[in-house]
Amino acid sequence: MNRLFSFATLLMCSCPVWVSAQVSKNQPFLWGVASASYQVEGAYQADGKGPSNWDVYTNTYHVTEGFTGNSQTGNVAINAYDRSQYLKDITLMKALGVTSYRFSISWARILPGGTGAVNEKGIQHYNQFIDDLLASGIEPMITLFHWDLPQALQEKGGWMNPESVRWFEDYANLIFKSYGQKVKKYITFNEPYVDNFLVTPIINNMINKKNPAFVLTSEQIAERATAVHHLLLANATVIRDFHQKKMKGMIGITLSLAPTIPLDAHNPDDVKAAIIKDGMHNRWFLDPLFKGKYPPDILQIYQQYNTQFKRSAADYALFAANKPDFLGINFYAPDYISANKDMPFGINLFGANPDSVKMFNGPVRPEFLYKLLMRIKDEYNNPVMIITENGAGFGEGDDKLVNNIVEDPLRVNYIQRHIDTAMQAKKDGANLQGYTVWSIFDNFEWIFGYSRRFGIVYVNFETQERIPKKSYWAYQKIIQSYKK
Ligand code: BGC
Repeated sequence: MNRLFSFATLLMCSCPVWVSAQVSKNQPFLWGVASASYQVEGAYQADGKGPSNWDVYTNTYHVTEGFTGNSQTGNVAINAYDRSQYLKDITLMKALGVTSYRFSISWARILPGGTGAVNEKGIQHYNQFIDDLLASGIEPMITLFHWDLPQALQEKGGWMNPESVRWFEDYANLIFKSYGQKVKKYITFNEPYVDNFLVTPIINNMINKKNPAFVLTSEQIAERATAVHHLLLANATVIRDFHQKKMKGMIGITLSLAPTIPLDAHNPDDVKAAIIKDGMHNRWFLDPLFKGKYPPDILQIYQQYNTQFKRSAADYALFAANKPDFLGINFYAPDYISANKDMPFGINLFGANPDSVKMFNGPVRPEFLYKLLMRIKDEYNNPVMIITENGAGFGEGDDKLVNNIVEDPLRVNYIQRHIDTAMQAKKDGANLQGYTVWSIFDNFEWIFGYSRRFGIVYVNFETQERIPKKSYWAYQKIIQSYKK
């Protein structure tokens, strides 16, 4: 889940995109950690919060059951809504040496019905949280939408509803009004590819019992191109608003980007499949964001399976005029792709993992992070890039708690090598301005519940005790070495 706009035009116009990019050039490299509201906050009914789609997926449909054998929810998660808890968590972040914390806002806390009445307690909660971060010298980076949609909007069709553009615009403007004086970095959306083209259809199948988990059809996937189109319109609209209001700071979007590799480089079907998968996963987002239009090869495929899909010249004009100030990149692994007649579009969309040591999110190949950053530099005019997620989970073996210590050597190795390769790309000209580990804490890993740990801090989910893993100390050292 590619063309250059002229540098000369950029120099001539005094557009806010250019101003923001200039400002950011003088900023020190950002070292961060990340999380997302539903994965950490808990307190799912506290202080007037409305229900979200994930509250319903987990409490009503028990979606984790099919994947973990247990029905698990984010009702408590890692208790991060609780101030007495999160103040301790901020202390751990400060000791780690990070300069930035990327977290998401739960839309349903702010607008319990998705639109309309504002929940002042929700506004106040994040206000206090932002102040507490700033008091510790940590810069907040807000993700506006990290997959938890107010259930009231879900029931109106969610992102499939064209009204979603206005819903998101109103919500985003409320956030700018509430926190714009203090928060200077915003991300509109997190990983629209994964959320829309994978997680949502998988969950829909589960809820409607249409197909077993992971069995998707071409039609089901192509249908989501409509939702993603609304989401990209919402993204451009909100970027426009941010710039028109002359907000100080930067606004971007975070994509999950995965270079694709043919599983068998000598098999022309695999080669073709890898090109299409690259189009679906990467170019379908990068092209409209930075070149103002969808890639024609994938557009043709989606239109074939989704005859309702529409985009207008005005939509393209909106994309072209409102580019993100920075590109947030979530990189975990490349995708080894093969042709498979029985899967959507004849492609094994989930990729293969040829490694014997299995990382949850694919094979460990740091060199592809280098290639990815250089590709964005070369093909997309080198926008400001911030790695907004990079991290790993390898299962029990790596995350074993022995005598109150978690050694996690595989995660230590993963983080070190990915930072090395990212910094090499920076040296070689990629406009990389930050690196963020996913995640600071073990947390609720969506359909996999609490069965997959990604934290550099171990969390005892029963007692909420936090224990820094070896990777925490390793990351601390790396940050110190680069700050020198
Ligand atoms: C998501 C996170 C998730 C992480 C690890 C990313 O896809 O943004 O929410 O927990 O990967 O799988």
